[in-house]
Amino acid sequence: MTSVGIDAMEIWTGKLVLDLPNTFAPVKGEDPEKYTKGLGLHTSSFPDVYEDIVTMGANAAKQLMDRKGLTPADIGRIDVATESAFDNSKPVSTYIAGCLEQVYDGDFRHANKGERKFACIAGTQSLDDAYNWIKAGRNRGRAALVIATDTALYERGDPGEATQGAGAVAMLIDEDPDLVELSTEQGYGSMDETDFLKPNQQFPSVDGKRSMQVYLARMREALEDYESVAGRTHPDLFEYIPFHTPFPGMVRKAALLGFRHMTRDTDIEDDLEAEIGRQPREEDFETWDDYEEAIRGYMDELKTTEQYREWYGRVIEPTLDISSRVGNWYTGSVHIARLSALIAAADEGKDMTGKSLLVGSYGSGAQAEIHAETVQETWLDEIEAVDVDDQLAARTEISFDDYELIHDVHNHEKEIEVEEFTQPEAEFVFTGWGRMNERR
Ligand code: HMG
Repeated sequence: MTSVGIDAMEIWTGKLVLDLPNTFAPVKGEDPEKYTKGLGLHTSSFPDVYEDIVTMGANAAKQLMDRKGLTPADIGRIDVATESAFDNSKPVSTYIAGCLEQVYDGDFRHANKGERKFACIAGTQSLDDAYNWIKAGRNRGRAALVIATDTALYERGDPGEATQGAGAVAMLIDEDPDLVELSTEQGYGSMDETDFLKPNQQFPSVDGKRSMQVYLARMREALEDYESVAGRTHPDLFEYIPFHTPFPGMVRKAALLGFRHMTRDTDIEDDLEAEIGRQPREEDFETWDDYEEAIRGYMDELKTTEQYREWYGRVIEPTLDISSRVGNWYTGSVHIARLSALIAAADEGKDMTGKSLLVGSYGSGAQAEIHAETVQETWLDEIEAVDVDDQLAARTEISFDDYELIHDVHNHEKEIEVEEFTQPEAEFVFTGWGRMNERR
């Protein structure tokens, strides 16, 4: 069976940038270190007046198609993952295909198009759909375009406002991929949850603290489920572990939980025994609450150990760079975590060929998925071709007042006219709800 995975990726960030510790925190009367140290966020991307999920997705996809020398005839499937959709009938992929058809010869008439929704995990679910379609032999030699695009905005005054962001990730899924091969094995943790949801509303209703607990519970279940098919995991098996990153502080918690789980009954637990004792075992406690409290105490000590800190700095920290500069991209978030890690590896001159990643995706509502990826021989060329730093550096900084205007412009329930902050440069621009976007 041929290998299937991600052949190439591109990003498109919202063109505006908000400085969280220096612009946002002072107006909110908060300590800037809550952002930089607590949440792990420095800046957030916001879409200009003429940007939306369609234009960001189409611009990312065009960059990808141009770089890989593709035309519509090479694409048999366009899946868009988003939780910021504005149309309950027509999928965002049709709007994006309409944009792309303006600039390429040919059309996507014979491509299957859809829209995937399950909060942030929909980006990974779309990858899975494309993978399955190719593995089933239904692709007729064509590749799939997966686009994760979101404007992650919260009601003003909601604690989630600190974690906003906007951008798109376009990924080409193909046979014999140039970037990473996806594992057949997957693990899931999935339960009906109501801590983050948008029933007939644009901005989410969020119980932020509970959402963090739900994330960790589903992620642990997904890891256990993954191990039931792929065998026990161990921290040394994976070069990087990109997690869904609503903000880097969340990943600090997920990583500690993952390390504790992976080191149980291993050489690492043996090494740590003299320093912090062995991990609490459920059978040694009368109640689940007592056991959980003991685990929390163990993890408080575990995070101070040299073994954990070294592992975190090497395997997790490099996945967080883009996220700390753009905020939550919802469906694209775990995919910019993978990209961050591979850019860090390229910067360090690491040889990643054949190395494994463990990818932890998550979507509220709630579901986590764990799968592994194997880095391909041509990974470096792919990573060096993505212009993340240039795009992020080209963003235009906005004041707090500008931020409020932009937030209102992208509120579907308001109709306000605001001047553009930047000039479009040969890109797709938004021209009105439900209308064909143009290229300017
Ligand atoms: P909050 O009340 O603004 O912040 O809410 P906080 O007071 O809890 O502080 C945050 C952290 O900063 C804490 O760290 C503080 O201690 C620390 P922790 O104790 O958790 O390790 N802190 C400081 N550190 C240094 N110096 C200081 C300082 N002050 C505080 N001066 C919350 C935070 C995450 C709840 C809020 O931002 C929120 O509601 N966010 C939206 C929901 C969210 O992102 N949840 C994450 C899990 S769910 C998920 O990932 C899915 C999602 O992406 C959606 C989807 O799937 O579609 C959201």
